Amino acid sequence: MENQMKALREEMMEAASQVRSKEDLAAFWQTYLSKGGKVSGLMKGMKTIAKEDRPAFGKLVNQLKGEVEKRYAEVREALDKAELEARNVSEQIDITMPAKMRPAGGLHPLSVTRSQMIGVFAGMGFEIYDGPEIEDDDHNFTRLNVPRNHPARDMQDTFYIAEDLVLRTHTSNGQIRVMDAQQPPIKVLSPGRVFRSDSDATHSPMFSQMEGLVVDKGITLCDLQGMLDKFCQQIFGEAARTRLRPSYFPFTEPSVEVDVSCFECGGKGCSLCKGTGWIEILGGGIVHHNVLRNCGIDPEVYSGFAFGIGIERIAMLKYGINNIGLLTQNDLRFLRQFKEA
Ligand code: PHE
Repeated sequence: MENQMKALREEMMEAASQVRSKEDLAAFWQTYLSKGGKVSGLMKGMKTIAKEDRPAFGKLVNQLKGEVEKRYAEVREALDKAELEARNVSEQIDITMPAKMRPAGGLHPLSVTRSQMIGVFAGMGFEIYDGPEIEDDDHNFTRLNVPRNHPARDMQDTFYIAEDLVLRTHTSNGQIRVMDAQQPPIKVLSPGRVFRSDSDATHSPMFSQMEGLVVDKGITLCDLQGMLDKFCQQIFGEAARTRLRPSYFPFTEPSVEVDVSCFECGGKGCSLCKGTGWIEILGGGIVHHNVLRNCGIDPEVYSGFAFGIGIERIAMLKYGINNIGLLTQNDLRFLRQFKEA
């Protein structure tokens, strides 16, 4: 019996050293340690042993069982460790590797300028009105005091879509639409696209304007200039000043052309301001009595000012862009220069 036990111990130790995988380990357990395994088998041989020897025999078997269990646990631990090490190697990631960068887009210089301008006027309490780009003759011209066959229609080269429909030539159509819908006090800003058959370095068939309209009791040209001073200071810097020059628009009387002091040379004269110290930025004036009347507003009670600013023009001045076409060509080499870091 003792020899049998010794042989079994050797067999088990040899088998344990052959275990290479979880499957081998399970088979080992099955063969030696399970209920039907070889260790239990030894116990079953107990009855063939003399009674007085049984306790000693049982002790030896239990001892053997303990040894095998210990070996089993060691082998399992070694297997687990090896498995973990293998995973550590196969799942290794290099956290110092540079990440794949997604190139971030940037806002178009025209969008930046537009929202900056809207921000300034919104801060002064202007509401935003979005007028139609396809407009009838009435709103684009006639009710703005530009009757048919009036020579002033030649000031703007118009795209006609039909006899009575145009691509709006300015955002001034918004003036009529706002005054039709609302009685004074009115304080509205109407940004949007406008269209004229005109194309060179500073003119494009499609461009954008921002129309301002303020109607209330006692509104004067001083209100317009005061407000534009503030606007220019916020867009071009604190040192900016404005000056008004007499001009003509059919829908304002008096009409003015507004210049801003040259922010490049500070007024001394340079190539940007063509030596004059001033740069023209917009047209405006006091809303013509006929226009107020056309919208059912009594010019004896109310007065107003209106202005129209070209957004491309402001963007080109701010960023030193010399060709308006660059704003629509989507050349990334151009656009990337405006990307904020
Ligand atoms: N609509 C004029 C233009 O496009 C600008 C303007 C607006 C002038 C409002 C006076 C008042 O040239």
